[in-house]
Amino acid sequence: MTADRSAPAPALAVVGATGAVGTVLLQILSQRADVWGEVRLIASSRSAGRVVAVRGEEVEVLALTEDAFDGLGAGDVVVFLTPAAVSAHWAPAVTARGAVVVDQSAAFREDPEVPLVVPEVNGGAVRVRPRGIVAGPDCVTAAMIAAVGALHAEYGLTELVVSSYQAAGAAGRAGSEALRRQLSLVAGSALGEQPGDVRRAVGEDTGPFAAPLALNVVPWSGELREGGWSSHELAVRAQTRRILDLPALPISVTCVQVPVVIGHSLTVRARFEREVDAGRARKVLEAAPGVVLVDDPAAGEFPTPVDAAGTDPAWVGRLRGSLDDARALEFFVCADNLRKGAALNATQISELIAGEFA
Ligand SMILES: NC(=O)c1ccc[n+]([C@@H]2O[C@H](COP(=O)([O-])OP(=O)(O)OC[C@H]3O[C@@H](n4cnc5c(N)ncnc54)[C@H](OP(=O)(O)O)[C@@H]3O)[C@@H](O)[C@H]2O)c1
Repeated sequence: MTADRSAPAPALAVVGATGAVGTVLLQILSQRADVWGEVRLIASSRSAGRVVAVRGEEVEVLALTEDAFDGLGAGDVVVFLTPAAVSAHWAPAVTARGAVVVDQSAAFREDPEVPLVVPEVNGGAVRVRPRGIVAGPDCVTAAMIAAVGALHAEYGLTELVVSSYQAAGAAGRAGSEALRRQLSLVAGSALGEQPGDVRRAVGEDTGPFAAPLALNVVPWSGELREGGWSSHELAVRAQTRRILDLPALPISVTCVQVPVVIGHSLTVRARFEREVDAGRARKVLEAAPGVVLVDDPAAGEFPTPVDAAGTDPAWVGRLRGSLDDARALEFFVCADNLRKGAALNATQISELIAGEFA
């Protein structure tokens, strides 16, 4: 791109500004270097007219219509933090105006003409966007990919086995509200010791979860696919392969929901082309952008989601060389699903695009 010093600062429109991710993205905008001119807030007609604070200013939320994109064009960025169907329907209205779409839903993650980007790992991919759209990954992939990508660059990844411990907030406001409601129904009780007692207390309405989440873990996220896999497990597999540019990487994912409000955790077993030394791997992770190592079990120091919530990095701990395989490492990672899992990643991508026109 040719630098034009007289060009005004680009506009940023946030569609889904009132949701769980949108609310966090607005906070992030106030915390980072401000590269934006106008910041425009858009949501459903339910939220139109609401006034929301961003960068210390009160901004009125617009309803999502064609008119909401008036005046946006080349150099501007529109971030979609909406259900996939909404992103898919409205993205063309943005790209037709010449602005770039950054989508954090599942709508475009498998489109080969839409780069799937985590800036710490494949930020350069942002520049090649034939449809004018850039996608961010789902929050489970995002939580581990900076750490896995750094180890891959050093040792050459050959296999990955991942289990997630997913926070309720990944299902948006509906998810965290459902968990809080369920927790209020079981609080102070002796429930959880008899068959069916938690189910009876929570009732039929388990919100976006396949079973009660309070006092429970639920080994299901997404829709049923062939062979008993869930759509979410297959999505994490496909996205990890895409971001690392390893289309044939053997990878097995088990997605599990846990009664945590914010902060995904994962156990990761990574196998490499070469033998790995845990001490050296520690140094690799310490130097990796977007990763912080907290790994001193003797001192009781390891990452947990309650410590990761509200923070930017992926927190890695419990790093061990595999007992049975000199080429494998095991570790635990936590990250805020709303920040690195969505809002922060979308902000970083948007800033890369804004930088092209600066
Ligand atoms: N939560 C996470 O951890 C996470 C992580 C990664 C990716 N994502 C993805 O990010 C997107 C947003 O997730 P979220 O958790 O923020 O969901 P959410 O809390 O339910 O918020 C959804 C947002 O989309 C807006 N919206 C919904 N339907 C709309 C419509 N028909 N027209 C215009 N706006 C509409 C809502 O506006 P109103 O407030 O007016 O209803 C709200 O601002 C989803 O695609 C999700 O899969 C979420």
